[in-house]
Amino acid sequence: MKDILSELEDRREAARLGGGQRRVDSQHAKGKLTARERIMLLVDEGSFEEFDMFVTHRCTDFGMEASKPAGDGVITGWGTINGRQVYVYAQDFTVLGGSVSATHAQKICKIMDMAMQNGAPVIGINDSGGARIQEGVDSLAGYGEIFERNVRASGVVPQISLIMGPCAGGAVYSPAMTDFIFMVKDSSYMFVTGPDVVKTVTNEVVSAEELGGATTHTRKSSVADGAFENDVEAIAEVRRLFDFLPLNNMQKPPMRPFFDDPSRVEESLDTLVPVNPNTPYDMKELILKIADEGDFFEIQEDYAKNIITGYIRLEGQTVGVVANQPMVLAGCLDIDSSRKAARFVRFCDCFDIPILSLVDVPGFLPGTSQEYAGVIKHGAKLLYAYGEATVPKVTVITRKAYGGAYVVMSSKHLRGDFNYAWPTSEIAVMGAKGATEIIHRADAGNPEKIAQHTADYEERFANPFVAAERGFIDEVIMPQSTRRRVSRAFASLRTKKTHVPWKKHDNIPL
Ligand code: HXC
Repeated sequence: MKDILSELEDRREAARLGGGQRRVDSQHAKGKLTARERIMLLVDEGSFEEFDMFVTHRCTDFGMEASKPAGDGVITGWGTINGRQVYVYAQDFTVLGGSVSATHAQKICKIMDMAMQNGAPVIGINDSGGARIQEGVDSLAGYGEIFERNVRASGVVPQISLIMGPCAGGAVYSPAMTDFIFMVKDSSYMFVTGPDVVKTVTNEVVSAEELGGATTHTRKSSVADGAFENDVEAIAEVRRLFDFLPLNNMQKPPMRPFFDDPSRVEESLDTLVPVNPNTPYDMKELILKIADEGDFFEIQEDYAKNIITGYIRLEGQTVGVVANQPMVLAGCLDIDSSRKAARFVRFCDCFDIPILSLVDVPGFLPGTSQEYAGVIKHGAKLLYAYGEATVPKVTVITRKAYGGAYVVMSSKHLRGDFNYAWPTSEIAVMGAKGATEIIHRADAGNPEKIAQHTADYEERFANPFVAAERGFIDEVIMPQSTRRRVSRAFASLRTKKTHVPWKKHDNIPL
């Protein structure tokens, strides 16, 4: 009996060694943790329950039957993050380069199925040479099975991808279909075709880091939602994000104990908006002053900085924030910011996370580059996302809300529940100067008259009261009381119910 028990321990020990000490050392030398170390950091201590530790590949080509490492290059199972259940897989680069065989894929599919069945998120840690070359189409089939599950799980359980090594070819499409992608600087990359193929086909010379590193994907392509210095920081931040999210689409996000007075008055907000309407100010200051304990988890911080997206808590409840940033491009909407915010709004809506919109938007960015690249279709994404969202929606206009952008940014007309404006708001079809130049074109040669017309227009329209008179703004509020007003608004909306007519699914302009 003892022999049998010790055989189990021996087998476990061998499986835990992965590809052996030499390869583990090589992984560490690259500044990367092993798959097992990553999981141990990600989940609560002692909470990890492993599945399929002894699964091996079934390939008999190219001499593969001679080596059948236990686990087949991926560690799968479940654990908890601050006590809440999560399913996890981590590809083990020390075993055949973490490459995906038929059985490797089966292991991932098994925990994805369990996650769906039990209503818990999936976190995938990617570090893989891609399709197991010796297995050919069996490997491709495995990827296909994972992709299909990514689609089915979308909007049912949150899916988070960590990229912590190579992720190339069709393999990128599993993370691409998850809700969030986080990368590690200098040790991870994602691309559909690597630098060698790029050189052959287009004659461009580019390094793997330049082509698909964390900086590229968080600043240029927007494929990734965040970039971190190393594995430890990335995992710690994913744990932080996880605490904001619900486990599935049938549950509310977790309520956290809070130690910050919801009625906290912030007098400094009364002077946040500068006297000159063209002077920028930092919208992040407002977000941090509204949030419980000033805690803000930003998504896509380095991309389309003219809009800010991320999570805060109000009275312990998760709230998604979308805010125009006057410091960048005057906070205007353009293709990139519309896409960024639309995806964020849709995530919040499918997982029942209320949305707070902070508005200071002078309109859409003009120009041929925007029009040729389809700002109509991309801008419509954000309009559509806000219009379809049925979660509680609270909006605060701090300054400009002009033209179409006014409507887009969670206006009353898109079923905003509470639409507040600061006294500094200017809700109008456009800025006073532009409006005057159009409606008083005949006086274009007379600067004095134009100045008078502009002043008249400002007097009449550069305020929140025209909109408030029509009920498009529910209340003009003191900036210092914003946290209290917004917290109370969301508290009143906790029981919100809306009716959505049956449809198979919508047809958002993609
Ligand atoms: C089998 C693989 C492998 C793979 C790596 N290995 N990738 N084995 N299939 N795809 C093995 C290596 O043979 C090696 O084994 C070990 O993993 C570590 O690899 P190294 O090359 O030594 O590591 P490194 O120098 O860090 O280079 C990493 C790498 C390189 C850049 C990822 O291994 C590489 O280019 N691999 C091939 C990538 C590829 O072409 N994959 C298929 C893409 S197509 P030993 O025994 O020496 O330690 C694809 C399609 C997916 O993925 C489609 C989905 C629909």
